[in-house]
Amino acid sequence: MAPLVAGQVLEQKEDCFEVNNMLTNRPKTKILVDGGDPNETLRIKSLIGFVDGQTTNPSLIAKNPEIQRLIASGHKLSSREEKEEYKKIVRSISPLVGDAGVSIEVFADLDTPAEDMLVQGEEMFSWVPNAYVKYPCTHEGLRAAQLSVQKSIRVNITLCFSQEQAAAVYAATKGSKAPVYVSPFIGRLDDRGEDGMDLVRNIKKMYQHGDGHVHVLAASIRNVNHLLCSFALGAELATVPTKVLEEWAATGFSMPDQDFRYKGVDASGNLLKLIPYKELDLNLPWETFDIAHELTTKGIQKFVADYQSTLRRSA
Ligand code: G3P
Repeated sequence: MAPLVAGQVLEQKEDCFEVNNMLTNRPKTKILVDGGDPNETLRIKSLIGFVDGQTTNPSLIAKNPEIQRLIASGHKLSSREEKEEYKKIVRSISPLVGDAGVSIEVFADLDTPAEDMLVQGEEMFSWVPNAYVKYPCTHEGLRAAQLSVQKSIRVNITLCFSQEQAAAVYAATKGSKAPVYVSPFIGRLDDRGEDGMDLVRNIKKMYQHGDGHVHVLAASIRNVNHLLCSFALGAELATVPTKVLEEWAATGFSMPDQDFRYKGVDASGNLLKLIPYKELDLNLPWETFDIAHELTTKGIQKFVADYQSTLRRSA
């Protein structure tokens, strides 16, 4: 358990109650901040009392206030400068978080080969001692992950939208000494009328037949109910935007009790479509799973667009 900084409690009386409250009810699910601004991480640390880890991605880095200021002043970055900025941000966040580490995402478009991702991954892994390298859940991303775990590079497979993808993550990274993270994106499935929490439930159920080397990191969390349901389903980790963590704090850090029932509904209150469980054999070679998913492709395109928005045209 992360120790409290005494000054933190003395200086902020109101937070003191919340910190004590939090510490007695600390969830088993590790809490990560989903963001690209070290000041947000600090704010959440003083609100909750600890932060287990952080996830970043090209969209979140593009929103970092320092990068936004540079862009607003007309100073777009070269790709080298962008990487240096990313490194600076990650280095500021790294000492603020616990053993769930800082996830750093490689810059990949739909044509980036695994070897290129691996070169980036090796470099990013050296930025901070608690790095996790994020690769997209594509054929090349999984190949890069497979090569990475052979080199003891910790990995987080992002943009996961199907149980097949999670099965492939498991099979591709078997033998990893460190836990591998897989990040199912809940909110983006909800956005298209499918119940994203079902994906987390299905992956957890499937992994009961495994060796435990892959940990489920609930991602694309949009509200407190997503967070509570992630706790109830036993996700090992959840990455949560600052706004949702503040909303959770405002509930007094509520926790799901035995009667907790999650109801996946859209903005108009209509029930989201159930994602059925599939019997999949985790012992099959990872290449045999059908890992194509439209939302993974769209997700990569959005990361590329957000990354490009920070770059000089000639870069
Ligand atoms: O954790 C992944 C996250 O950054 C994506 O969230 O809200 O853009 O789907 P969102």
